[in-house]
Amino acid sequence: MGYIGEMSKKNDPVNVILAGLKREEYRGYDSAGISFFNGKPCVETLKVAGKIAALERLIFEKKPETSHSAIIGHTRWATHGIPNEINAHPHTDCGHEIAVVHNGIIENYKQLRNMLGHDGHKFVSSTDTEVIPHLIERARRTGSRTFEESVMEALKELIGSFAVLVLCSDEPDKIIAARRGSPLLLGLGEKEFFVASDPMAICEYTDRAIYLNDGEMTMVTEDGYEILNYHDGSSGKSEVVKFDISLANGHAKKGEYEHFMLKEISEAPEVIFNACKGRIDFETFSVTFGELDEFEEKLKRVKKIMFAACGTSYYASLSGKYIFEKLPDISGAEAFYASEFRYHHPKIDADTLLISISQSGETADTLEALREAKKYDALTLGIVNVSGSAIAREVDIPVYCHAGPEIAVASTKAFISQVVVLAAVALRLSELKGGESEERKTVIRELGNLPEKVALVLAAKNIIRHVAEISQKYGNFLYLGRRYNWPTALEGALKLKEISYIHAEGYPSGEMKHGPLALVDNSFPTFAIAVKDEVVYDKVLSNLQELKARGGPIIAVATEGDSAILELADHVIFIPETLPELSPILAVIPCQLFAYFVAVLKKRDIDQPRNLAKSVTVE
Ligand code: G6P
Repeated sequence: MGYIGEMSKKNDPVNVILAGLKREEYRGYDSAGISFFNGKPCVETLKVAGKIAALERLIFEKKPETSHSAIIGHTRWATHGIPNEINAHPHTDCGHEIAVVHNGIIENYKQLRNMLGHDGHKFVSSTDTEVIPHLIERARRTGSRTFEESVMEALKELIGSFAVLVLCSDEPDKIIAARRGSPLLLGLGEKEFFVASDPMAICEYTDRAIYLNDGEMTMVTEDGYEILNYHDGSSGKSEVVKFDISLANGHAKKGEYEHFMLKEISEAPEVIFNACKGRIDFETFSVTFGELDEFEEKLKRVKKIMFAACGTSYYASLSGKYIFEKLPDISGAEAFYASEFRYHHPKIDADTLLISISQSGETADTLEALREAKKYDALTLGIVNVSGSAIAREVDIPVYCHAGPEIAVASTKAFISQVVVLAAVALRLSELKGGESEERKTVIRELGNLPEKVALVLAAKNIIRHVAEISQKYGNFLYLGRRYNWPTALEGALKLKEISYIHAEGYPSGEMKHGPLALVDNSFPTFAIAVKDEVVYDKVLSNLQELKARGGPIIAVATEGDSAILELADHVIFIPETLPELSPILAVIPCQLFAYFVAVLKKRDIDQPRNLAKSVTVE
């Protein structure tokens, strides 16, 4: 994030940057830093390993005085080089006259570093980023170029993705910002400007911004800005957009809850309600989707549906795929890890509907998969929670989850809202392609019952805590589910890994006997999703018998009234009966709460687990 404004007025530039960086912390939180000028010829840089709170403490101690209001800051998710103070951004040139913060990855950094090293440049960090200030330094020295010309020259040498902000002692009242691949926007205030990776960082100060395009750079002073294409110097397009005030996601408070994660799990009933609101009419059994209206004809022609997403959003898409396939008149759907999607591109055409699913709307792999599909003229639909995010802006049809801010890194309520929205989109699509259907009515009716049923699952919190207390001693877990609840098992294992750091594997329960069973003994437990489903329930029970025969402890999530499971499992968490295709929405909650309680018992950093970020903005 960068800030420049009329000095000494309402905003202290350091506080503006700190507040903005806190809102960007979902992109990474392993180290942080700021650069500014304090009357000396060199740029002043303060950096720390750790979260923004550590940077805040350092700033409180040092009480930095800024002589110019231009200031840049960064919160990092390490790609090249361990998360320590040296590798934290900003990075500077040899003479500390240039400072740079960077998102993205410079793919040719090794070659550039060797070349610059030959020319006598000294590197102190292990990052790819550090080549940028040195390239600017070289351009500035060799051709006595201006600040702007030097940055343009340096950018042309970079291969990879970047959003960069640069300060230079030649013009201490200016920030230069540029992008290729990684998002960047210029926020417009009253005699003050902001540059940031996303609107969240600046929504407290302004609701007007310009999203820079790939290949553009902007020169910002407190008097104004100019946008150029850094390849040829031509003028950039500068469309000012107004963003929604609901972007104030960072304002979410924990309230009575100890952690955001528990708060967010507990919000499940209203999350389901909000995902359906204004879309599903439970009296007439119809689905209205304003967002889809304009594309009705194209949607009717769709022959192939593909999902691309990462992490929890990918598991939501696997769950959604089953719902799509179950409904009449939809031929089928395929779910892909977004990072693998481009390897399938020859099969995409104008009759393909690509559905990108992303809570943050900023995940780089998901964004790239979407761009890939667009190259082949696919119709693109994004199921996104954060409005105004990159994916929401780039898809043809943005569909919002309306789940409210999700702050905990481990995604919980977003998964639930994504599956519900997927069900609603599938219902609308099936309606568009066919006529009346009893099956659709059944699904709609049950969606209306879900908030109440979810509240009942949440009420079993103490039982789940008790099971967590008994089970936290284990070092490994197998998560099993079949058919609709295979994705639930995958998501359950992911939750446990993410926040408790316990190794867990999710498997289709039928696959367990083809290898994983070798791991099972009395020290290797299984968490099984064994809910009622006329097609697979008996088979799941047989799989659990196979585990029991090998002495494996079993925790099962089962449907209320099921007595057979009590004979097999060591611990049972009951959930209310529902349609099998919607059962993941209920069954995932015991998985989320179990992971949460185990992690609390292990005293983990629940909301910001080690090594992770809420949204990973590099490929
Ligand atoms: C990160 C987060 C996960 C999340 C994934 C996809 O890895 O730690 O919790 O599921 O990104 O994020 P998205 O915002 O695209 O849903």
